[in-house]
Amino acid sequence: MPVPSQSSLFFYDINTVLEDTRNEVTLGLQRPQKMISPKFFYDEMGSELFMEITRQPEYYLTRTEISLLREYADEMADLMGENCLLIEYGSGSSEKIRILLESLRPRAYAPLDISKEYLGAAAGALASEFPWLEVHATCLDFTEDFELPFTMDARRVAFFPGSSIGNFGRIEARAFLGRARRLVGDEGGMLVGVDLKKDIAVLNAAYNDSNGITEKFNLHVLTHLNEKFDADFDLKNFVHSAVYEPEKGCVAMYLTSLQEQKVQIADTSISFKAGEKIHTENSHKYTKEEFLYMALDAGFTQYHFWTDNNNRFGIFYLT
Ligand code: AVJ
Repeated sequence: MPVPSQSSLFFYDINTVLEDTRNEVTLGLQRPQKMISPKFFYDEMGSELFMEITRQPEYYLTRTEISLLREYADEMADLMGENCLLIEYGSGSSEKIRILLESLRPRAYAPLDISKEYLGAAAGALASEFPWLEVHATCLDFTEDFELPFTMDARRVAFFPGSSIGNFGRIEARAFLGRARRLVGDEGGMLVGVDLKKDIAVLNAAYNDSNGITEKFNLHVLTHLNEKFDADFDLKNFVHSAVYEPEKGCVAMYLTSLQEQKVQIADTSISFKAGEKIHTENSHKYTKEEFLYMALDAGFTQYHFWTDNNNRFGIFYLT
């Protein structure tokens, strides 16, 4: 039985205004290589589809990371220290942080996510499940530079699980780590999950699950644009593909136009040739050494590293 509680939840919305975001989308679709940023996957339905991906047998990432968090929670919590302000980038369902909360006992938890309704629901559930925890949820786009919309006198520790850092290119990932390093300050730290380089067949299967959930997730970005930006993409006219590109060290995901067509986004018209692709996501994979090199370059000086028996996934604690 849940204990009736006086939970403390604060909600802030500092996301970019609609017109600016629509501009970002139309500009991306007017480039020679059309692209949509992967952050546009995550409306409420997109966040749910991603959750469904994490339950697919081929998608080993989430399962592997969760077992690492379970196995090493106490050790990680010791390193992260008591009473910190725990900031989570892209918190989604806040599922993983639950594993650490009891050992870590942070002063407050600050989930950051671009998916407003999803974030509100997840933060609310968490606040009532952990009545002793102060929750400060912020809807924002963390691919941009930002400051927290509240002040709190506590050491900061960031949590960035899931290999979401893989969505950045290598240069952007280095820049992001530098911003995170500044956000947590000299005494702070960062726990970050990274998908490791491995057998190409394993990688390709993870992004082409046989139940077709990744395909649905990829196509769903078009529905999100239709709803949010008044576009008229016809999902029947596009197909999903995802393939590991060894030169770039990433799984690149695309939507390919099946025919010549025009799509309207508010008052902008976008033309597609038959076979033309929209690039929707990169998921970069790193060796332990490649990632460390980047983290040290970004200003972190010390690390701990945990991985599974098959070296599929790695978690770093950087200070
Ligand atoms: C949430 C960014 C870590 O790149 O593996 C899953 C998103 N895309 N299947 C990933 C995703 C296709 C996922 N991240």
